[in-house]
Amino acid sequence: MGNSGRSSLLLCCCSLLSLLLSATAYRPYHWDGGHGLAAGMARGRRARAAAASCNLFQGSWVYDESYPAYNSSACPFIDPEFDCQRYGRPDKDYLKYRWNPDSCDLPRFNGVDFLTKYKGKKIMFVGDSLSKNQWMSLACMLHAAVPDGKTNYTKSTPLSSITFQEYGVSVMLYHSTYLVDIVNETIGRVLKLDSIQSGSAWIAADVLIFNTWHWWTHIGTSQPWDYIEYGGQTYKDMDRLEAFSKGLTTWAKWVDSNVNTTTTKVFFQGISPTHYNATEWGEASSKGCANQTDPVSGSTYPAGPVPAQSVVKSVLSGVSKPVFLLDVTLLSQLRKDGHPSAYSGEHPGMDCSHWCLAGVPDTWNQLLYAALTL
Ligand SMILES: *[C@@H]1O[C@H](CO)[C@@H](O)[C@H](O)[C@H]1NC(C)=O
Ligand SMILES: *[C@@H]1O[C@H](CO)[C@@H](O)[C@H](O)[C@H]1NC(C)=O
Ligand SMILES: *[C@@H]1O[C@H](CO)[C@@H](O)[C@H](O)[C@H]1NC(C)=O
Ligand SMILES: *[C@@H]1O[C@H](CO)[C@@H](O)[C@H](O)[C@H]1NC(C)=O
Ligand SMILES: *[C@@H]1O[C@H](CO)[C@@H](O)[C@H](O)[C@H]1NC(C)=O
Ligand SMILES: *[C@@H]1O[C@H](CO)[C@@H](O)[C@H](O)[C@H]1NC(C)=O
Repeated sequence: MGNSGRSSLLLCCCSLLSLLLSATAYRPYHWDGGHGLAAGMARGRRARAAAASCNLFQGSWVYDESYPAYNSSACPFIDPEFDCQRYGRPDKDYLKYRWNPDSCDLPRFNGVDFLTKYKGKKIMFVGDSLSKNQWMSLACMLHAAVPDGKTNYTKSTPLSSITFQEYGVSVMLYHSTYLVDIVNETIGRVLKLDSIQSGSAWIAADVLIFNTWHWWTHIGTSQPWDYIEYGGQTYKDMDRLEAFSKGLTTWAKWVDSNVNTTTTKVFFQGISPTHYNATEWGEASSKGCANQTDPVSGSTYPAGPVPAQSVVKSVLSGVSKPVFLLDVTLLSQLRKDGHPSAYSGEHPGMDCSHWCLAGVPDTWNQLLYAALTL
């Protein structure tokens, strides 16, 4: 690369840096799912050469002895459902993988740097148990960086919070299965696709990371509503992708009319895949994620993307405020070995939906960190 190429790249990096560096000085900037951002993160010769086409979410997993990011038994916050080693998982290789984007270097997570840059700020995850999974991972990663720091853990419903007191950083979880409301009415429990009442609790945060999807597929006794309401009409049921799209669009409009993105950064935590169907990765005789000890090698998942991903992308393309998609689906699809399987402290049976901690959500947070601090 010639001098002029290098200096224009530098200029590009600097402007991205100034856009992304500080929460208070954060100016509107349309995040495009990683491509523009990644140019600002490019490091090293290989990365500089490829910066223009760098996508953080396209890559493969490499074995790395320096992982995991923390020792789960030293993390005071971790819940039994994610604590696979404590509940007897015999293998350990799954702890040792690092996400390696094809054309850029992902910086290692630095907890002290995170706490310093986000001093006094509130980081809030809003969503279902996959949000809880990522929230606990972030709390463990930050705790590992300041193991002797004072923390305050408030557990409640819907809002839980872990504060790192020396830094005044609060990492919070607001539990919401659908983001839109479920209301008890005389006819029964109604899922209201065009209503968000809990939003006032969210806007106080400096960083918001939203997620919803898994509950949209629930039927029978695990479906927590009796009717769907949309546009003044009541339905007994609806195509679930269509319902998801309508509900997520309500969330998108909520972001556009309620979040001041000058002061609050908004992320959507992409679709977290499950591994109940081993035919997806070509092992028809395996029982879901049971006894899986290695990732899928390479950078493609044989079964391809999940349909909900295109709903997310299409809804996000209609938001006018900047929302960053943490596009973690492919990298997580490759980690058929990452689930609690039979070693989930609180779930009987086989959990191929949540993730062991330490584990895959640590990488989601490494990507969040990259997006927040560079
Ligand atoms: C993890 O932490 C526990 C408890 O602090 C300790 O007993 C164990 O040796 C640690 N394991 C590793 C691999 O460091
Ligand atoms: C810790 O949390 C509790 C409960 O929310 C609160 O009463 C207390 O003031 C907090 N302590 C500190 C030092 O923030
Ligand atoms: C809604 O009604 C159900 C019983 O049908 C009850 O168990 C639940 O607590 C109610 N939820 C709210 C938020 O009132
Ligand atoms: C958003 O926040 C900035 C910085 O505090 C403030 O200047 C601006 O007026 C706010 N915008 C709206 C629409 O409230
Ligand atoms: C399992 O995955 C295969 C390959 O993607 C697909 O053809 C099949 O329909 C799936 N089975 C179920 C029960 O979803
Ligand atoms: C997993 O491996 C263990 C030990 O080899 C075996 O006993 C068990 O049946 C396997 N489970 C499944 C679901 O394949």
